[in-house]
Amino acid sequence: MSFILDVPSTASIVEVGPRDGLQNEKTPLTVEDKVALIDALSSTGLKRIEAGSFVSPQWVPQMANSDQVLDQITRKNDVIYSALTPNMRGFEGALAANANEVAIFGAASESFSQKNINCSIDESLQRFTPVIEAAKAAGIKVRGYVSCVLGCPYEGEIAPQAVLDVSETLLSMGCYEISIGDTIGVGTPKKTAQLLNLLLSRISAQRIAMHMHDTYGQALANVLVGLQNGISSFDSSVAGLGGCPYAKGASGNLASEDLIYMLANMDIDTGVDFQKLVHIGNDISAKLQRANASKSGTALSN
Ligand code: HMG
Ligand code: MG
Repeated sequence: MSFILDVPSTASIVEVGPRDGLQNEKTPLTVEDKVALIDALSSTGLKRIEAGSFVSPQWVPQMANSDQVLDQITRKNDVIYSALTPNMRGFEGALAANANEVAIFGAASESFSQKNINCSIDESLQRFTPVIEAAKAAGIKVRGYVSCVLGCPYEGEIAPQAVLDVSETLLSMGCYEISIGDTIGVGTPKKTAQLLNLLLSRISAQRIAMHMHDTYGQALANVLVGLQNGISSFDSSVAGLGGCPYAKGASGNLASEDLIYMLANMDIDTGVDFQKLVHIGNDISAKLQRANASKSGTALSN
């Protein structure tokens, strides 16, 4: 048995707190507060920030002001500010707001697809087709999410083959990367390894990102399995903010501070300033009047 960890030497982080985090917070933030959060995050060395979402305000009121947010942030040339776009209406909004990148979001579960975006998986792929075409024409990269890859709040177990099918379709349609989402955080290292075993038989590790919600405290363990399988792109949310409004019981994403703490201490370079991130996590938790869900952020602040 070998105790040497064979993992990538660098990793790329997508900070999803301003979108995945804030979309599910009870205390609504003003445009100014969101802008301040994103500008603070861009000062930490993070290069990819999901800044908002162009979805129906009836469905997700917290994201209704994403156009103003994108308009008012102070942009850094080397930072990609992205937004979710479920359909052409959303894409046009994101384009008008100068999003640098957009993300379409599908699922490996039919029921979740219906609850989240009001259509079947097949219908969602049809809606995404013109979005990808328009994005290509505008020179904007498209990321593809696949939700419920390790379990669904409505269907329970999800077959890895269903995840592979949607992932391969999204990639063949033109997504540069798919982000596999453990939407309700039920995955364990064993299930993650089984899923990756199948995905990596068909898709290169460079085109897979992991989006692990931390509901059952398994997110970092699952990230480690990803690292050991060559994956080096991870989503996380400062202070572990948020969840998904259409997945009952889903807690926030893996806290960015905890991810960076682990990676930095494994000599995996992310370019992110951990101490700055801890401050931001504390500030936003205070603003939202909620406990900081980052373990390392909390440990360093007591
Ligand atoms: P629908 O009702 O089927 O759409 O919703 P529709 O085309 O029939 O339109 C209904 C109304 O919404 C119309 O307005 C449209 O104009 C409007 P009305 O005429 O009634 O006044 N509308 C829009 N408004 C603003 N922006 C748009 C837009 N599109 C239509 N883009 C729709 C379909 C997809 C719009 C809806 O279901 C929706 O907005 N869903 C969003 C759900 C969502 O944002 N969920 C959270 C993000 S996903 C997530 O968190 C998971 C992830 O983190 C990964 C993981 O953790 O697994 C990514
Ligand atoms: Mg999510």
